[in-house]
Amino acid sequence: MKIIMLGAPGAGKGTQAKMIADKYALPHISTGDIFRANIKNGTQLGMEAKKYMDQGQLVPDELTVKILLDRVAQEDCKNGYVLDGFPRTIPQAEVLDEALTKLGESIDYAIDVDVPDENIVKRMGGRRACVMCGATYHIEHVPPKAEGICDRCCEKLILRDDDKPETVKNRLKVYHDQTQPLIDFYTAKGVLRTVDGTVDMNDVFAAIVSILGE
Ligand code: AP5
Ligand code: MG
Repeated sequence: MKIIMLGAPGAGKGTQAKMIADKYALPHISTGDIFRANIKNGTQLGMEAKKYMDQGQLVPDELTVKILLDRVAQEDCKNGYVLDGFPRTIPQAEVLDEALTKLGESIDYAIDVDVPDENIVKRMGGRRACVMCGATYHIEHVPPKAEGICDRCCEKLILRDDDKPETVKNRLKVYHDQTQPLIDFYTAKGVLRTVDGTVDMNDVFAAIVSILGE
């Protein structure tokens, strides 16, 4: 099963993608997590990506597409995957579509986690993230068992540099300009499903399971 998570920054794509990955035994592939791991490791790619991410801008397609295509070509992706944060522009979606068509494959579901902008800004300041495994927490809604420490891998949690209110506003603008058109793109392909992302995360997940099947 090949699934794409769509939704504004902070809508809960990463949270839901992790739950889907666990339940259906699929790899969770987040381009944002890949970039953050590269920043942490001080790679050339990380240094280049950071310039854009800190401004709330998208990393250029030339850098992003190759990483993603290499990743989905790996052995663990042969039965499918959950893409989180990719595609984010129409050109990215077209490249993915072409690559899949060559293999005689296609995306099964594009799940739009729908949350209005007003809710987003409130959520972001409370988010904490694990750079090691990509797990996401919220100091009020989803606190880790021990403050500041990842439940899964015991790594120290971080407040992301791009979660400052000004940058979040920029990310929302970029989302509406460049990513939201993907909703029409995947609607036209007949694979778009929308879930209400404002309810409790377990209820969001239940809605997703009712789409994907038990
Ligand atoms: P990326 O890491 O993908 O960030 P994003 O899209 O901005 O999304 P977020 O990770 O911020 O939010 P999310 O939807 O995953 O929400 P989460 O589950 O954490 O990208 C970062 C940057 O990298 C981009 O700005 C860009 O520069 C670059 N980039 C990445 N991919 C790219 C690409 N393809 N092309 C170009 N550039 C790219 O949840 C948010 C918070 O809410 C958490 O604290 C969570 O615990 C909480 N929460 C979740 N669900 C609920 C709920 N139901 N109720 C209450 N709280 C909830
Ligand atoms: Mg995320």
